[in-house]
Amino acid sequence: MNKLLHLLQDGRFHSGRELGNALGVSRGSVWKYLRDIEEEFDVELHRVRGRGYRLKNPLSLFSRELLEPGLRLLNWHLHLYDSLDSTNAEALRLLQAQTAIPLVVLAEAQTAGRGRRGRTWVSPAAQNLYLSLAYRITGGMQQLSGLSLVAGLAVKDALHRIGIAGVGLKWPNDVYVGGKKIAGVLLELTGDPADICHVVIGVGINVNMLFSDDDIDQPWTSLRAQQGSLIDRNKLVLQLGESLHSHLQRHAELGFAEMRLEWEACHIWQGRECALSTASRQVNGVVLGVDDQGALRLLVDGHEQVFSGGELSLRLAT
Ligand code: ATP
Ligand code: BTN
Repeated sequence: MNKLLHLLQDGRFHSGRELGNALGVSRGSVWKYLRDIEEEFDVELHRVRGRGYRLKNPLSLFSRELLEPGLRLLNWHLHLYDSLDSTNAEALRLLQAQTAIPLVVLAEAQTAGRGRRGRTWVSPAAQNLYLSLAYRITGGMQQLSGLSLVAGLAVKDALHRIGIAGVGLKWPNDVYVGGKKIAGVLLELTGDPADICHVVIGVGINVNMLFSDDDIDQPWTSLRAQQGSLIDRNKLVLQLGESLHSHLQRHAELGFAEMRLEWEACHIWQGRECALSTASRQVNGVVLGVDDQGALRLLVDGHEQVFSGGELSLRLAT
C-alpha cells in the first residue's frame, strides 16, 4: 500500500517536510502525491498551515511486518496486494502456478470481488478484509463436507474473540449481526477430490466500512458500526487465521458431524419458517437444522426434506 498513506494512517498531523524526507522527495511532490491519494483511495485530507497534513478519518492498513510472523506460525505463506480482481481468483492462479501451500491471499481492495452464483462482493480499498486461504485436500470428500459451514463457524469465532457480540450464521455461508450481513464465505475447488484437489476458502468481512458508494441490495453492517471505533485489521487477520486453522484441523480430524450441533446453535433461522429457492422452484418449510454433511433439513408439509448444492438460497418466509 502506498507509503504515504501508511505514514498518514494514524490520523495525526505530519508536516510536508517530514513526509518529503520519509519519501526522499520535495515538499512540492508530496503535495502532488497527496492529491493523487485522495482520488485513488477516496480519503479526505485536512491541510493546516504550519501543522501539515492529516487524514480526516484514520485507517488501519495491512502490514506485512505484523502479519507474516503470525501466519508463519500456522505455516501459511502470505501474498499481500494493494488491489486484485478477486483474492479467490488470485489464489486459484497461484495454485495453478504451483506456489507453496497453504497460502493466504490478502488484498486492500478487490475490483471484481465475487459472491456465490456470480454475484458481486462490494470491496472498497483500505476498509475491509478480503482473504483467501488455499490448501490441498488430502481426506477426499469427507474433508469437503460441511466445509463452507465450518469456515462460517471460524469467522464467527474470530469476531466473537475480538469482542463483537451477537454474531450469527445463515445457511450456508453468511455471517450476520443484528439481522444484517457482516461477512460471507465463498468456497472454490480445483481438481478431483478422489485424486489431487485443492480448495480456496474466501472470506469477506466488513470491517471499518461505514457507508458504501456501491449499492448493496440487502441490509449490511460492519465491525466498526457495531463496536463504534476503528478496528485493527492486522489483529483481525491474525485472529481469523488462528480460528480458521483450529476449526479446519478439528474438521479434518473429526468431520462436520462433530460440529453440527454447534453450527445449529448459531443458525439465526433455526426453527423459523423459510423459503428456499432452488434453480427451478421455491420450497417453503420450517428449518430443522443441518445434517452430518452440512445439508439443510426442512420440514415441508409435515415431512423432512434435505437440500444441498450451490444454487440454493434461503430467505425468511414473508
Ligand atoms: P444467498 O446466496 O444465500 O441467497 P446472499 O443473497 O447474501 O445469500 P451471496 O451470493 O451469499 O447472496 O452474497 C452476495 C450478496 O451479498 C450480494 O448480492 C449483495 O446483496 C451482498 N453483498 C455484496 N457485497 C457486500 C458487502 N460488502 N457486505 C454485505 N453484503 C454484501
Ligand atoms: C457471499 O456471501 O456470497 C460470499 C462473499 C465472499 C467474498 C470474499 S472476499 C474474499 C474472497 N474473494 C472473493 O472474490 N470473494 C471472497
